[in-house]
Amino acid sequence: MRRLRLFVELIRVALVRVALVRVALLSHQPADAVMSNFRYAEVTPSFPSDLQRCLLMTKKVEAGSVTSCAAVCHSLQSCSLFCIQGTTCHLFRAKVTSGWAGAGTGAPNQFTRCWSLYIYSNDIGRGVSTAAESVYLSFVPSNPVGLPYSCDNVNSCYESLIDINPYWMADLGSPKSVSEVRIHRYALLDPVVEFRLGNDTTAANNPHFVTSFTTTIFGELFLKPPTPAIGRYFFVTENLLSDIRVCDVWILGVQDSDTWKPNWMN
Ligand SMILES: *[C@@H]1O[C@H](CO)[C@@H](O)[C@H](O)[C@H]1NC(C)=O
Repeated sequence: MRRLRLFVELIRVALVRVALVRVALLSHQPADAVMSNFRYAEVTPSFPSDLQRCLLMTKKVEAGSVTSCAAVCHSLQSCSLFCIQGTTCHLFRAKVTSGWAGAGTGAPNQFTRCWSLYIYSNDIGRGVSTAAESVYLSFVPSNPVGLPYSCDNVNSCYESLIDINPYWMADLGSPKSVSEVRIHRYALLDPVVEFRLGNDTTAANNPHFVTSFTTTIFGELFLKPPTPAIGRYFFVTENLLSDIRVCDVWILGVQDSDTWKPNWMN
């Protein structure tokens, strides 16, 4: 049964990818505008071996220049972490929060210094309470907002059963202004998937957060409405008999009004 389910899921994921990419082409959100408010903060520079799954590229930079490395990260849509080792800049799409304690001595990925974009991305969803219609195995609803470090970690994934109106919900505690939601891995989503934000605990009673969105080649979904929307409950849902899977979800609030300024010298 599980193998059949997996097979069916793989085909569905392939079909959905095509559909979602077509939607993405219709939204003309320039990556620069999305990134221009972000800054970087220094984080503990040691990571487990899975970090390499999130490597975007490496680049030689003059005398290990942090500024050059940051500029490259800033120019890449999915870059959220950069590390320097000697004269090489390593660019990743992993999430690293200020709560990351490092992977300990002898960690397989040890750099001289690393900086994360995540800390300044104002994730108001981190550690909030979550809910769902149903849960498949250990993919509980708290997983996508729970980890201090994640690189495509399955422990950052929520998955539903095949169910009528499956949903994943994050409760921000009170109505908050949300400028963007980033889902760093998704699967099983059908073209009818809905993203809603509002003040009602029933998904369908809330307005759509976005109706078009950006997908990346790494399986990320960036949901950015033209202006921030206000609500307490964020939903990913499908109004049919189906299942959904979302991993490592960042719910970004409105950032402080500072214009973007490099702060990696701090
Ligand atoms: C949610 O409540 C806040 C505060 O009352 C309000 O500003 C916002 O418009 C509400 N959101 C929706 C979608 O109704």
